[in-house]
Amino acid sequence: MNFTPVLRKKRAGSAVRDDESLKPAYPTKTFEFSWNDSSDERLFIVIHSTISRSLLVASVSLTGVAALPARAEPEATRLIEVRPGLTYWSNATQRKELSENAHLEGRCGGFLDLTDYPVEGPTPPAPSISLAGREPTAQAKVLPLIAQADTGNLLAIITKLSAYEDRNYQTANGVASANWIKGEYERIAKGRADIHTAFFPHRFKQPSVIATIDGTGEQKNEIVVIGGHIDSISPGKAPGADDNASGTATVLETFRILAESGLRPNRTIQFMGYAGEEEGLLGSQDVATAYRKEKRIVAGALQFDMTMFPGATPKITFITDYTNRDLTKYVQRLSDEYVKAPWAEDRCGYACSDHASWNKSGYASVFPFESAFNSYNPDIHTPRDTMDKIDAGHGLHYLKLALAFAVELAEAGPVVTEANPHSSRGSLWPGLGKRTIPILDAATQRP
Ligand code: BES
Ligand code: ZN
Repeated sequence: MNFTPVLRKKRAGSAVRDDESLKPAYPTKTFEFSWNDSSDERLFIVIHSTISRSLLVASVSLTGVAALPARAEPEATRLIEVRPGLTYWSNATQRKELSENAHLEGRCGGFLDLTDYPVEGPTPPAPSISLAGREPTAQAKVLPLIAQADTGNLLAIITKLSAYEDRNYQTANGVASANWIKGEYERIAKGRADIHTAFFPHRFKQPSVIATIDGTGEQKNEIVVIGGHIDSISPGKAPGADDNASGTATVLETFRILAESGLRPNRTIQFMGYAGEEEGLLGSQDVATAYRKEKRIVAGALQFDMTMFPGATPKITFITDYTNRDLTKYVQRLSDEYVKAPWAEDRCGYACSDHASWNKSGYASVFPFESAFNSYNPDIHTPRDTMDKIDAGHGLHYLKLALAFAVELAEAGPVVTEANPHSSRGSLWPGLGKRTIPILDAATQRP
């Protein structure tokens, strides 16, 4: 859902305060500025009147942002990108309001938190394995594993996770749920020396969880990533059964089947539960940025976020923006070979989940989603995102796909490691580093 430039409903009593203390404490700059089209102008004005009134008097160009200090407090002023190239400083109240107002309008209020990792221009692609035209070869290993895919364990995991009052990135429940997930990985690993489970800490309370099955072959320094976010968000209780206990269960159950099969993979496989996704992809940006800094090679990152609400016409929907084309085509081929369910392609139109963090760091990512974008689960981000609304049978497709992905990618022999020429990040972070936003006149709301 693109940002519609009309604000229809507003929650009673949720007016943004005109509070001087909420203004950015550091200098902001204006660079040359031009509107490219009129729809942008309308968009800008709506956002301004919705979340600004006070602190959005000043925005900065992305070049200017690079020099600003990172903020230590999660609740402090954060730089959010509401659409590629459109960035604003916001406080917690405003972010909450932006999100709630959007949901009242029946869409997500997606914003990416750029404070800690401003985009200063296109990130050069990281080395990744070349997948163009690659065919599945590991049928003998994959087929027995996907035969074990069953809804029972998936549902048990979702029952447990959705019973937490919330899995918020800043609450004790958010931390407790991360602890439970880590404990499950450890229980399943049964002390195996080649399996490691760790928290990946962040500047907020909830940690990400990463379980690793060490590679044993020549390519063991290349990592196959399967992940999804573990946090949930809602104005009240946040069961997050579909968003994203479903994806978390897919990742955990993939791990269980692989670990219990005794497979000792060539490449290393990592299972990731990202914290703080709902606050702007915070956890996955920390992870992907660290991996890039440490020069880690990621063969591909498979994202699961919402897998159990099939929508109007049940199909696996491959998201084509902020993902890698070759990797997506390869996973579609795996789907035909092993899942044998219909699939389609669609776009989120914005950085809607953690695949975008990998993409932003120059890695290849792929995101098979539960439904067409316009028929996704309408109850997400509310107390109504509960077990009774989900279809675990549909979720089985994603579990099978994850098993095929893990084995095929981890077991493939040596392949050319190269900067993937088809990485989509260049064209799909349009305007970043180029687009500038002016300081506004508070009275006229015009530059
Ligand atoms: N699971 C959603 C992403 C999603 C929602 C994808 C609907 C496709 C259709 C995710 O948890 C989420 O809520 N993302 C935010 C954006 C994020 C950057 C905070 C959103 O969509 O508002
Ligand atoms: Zn969400």
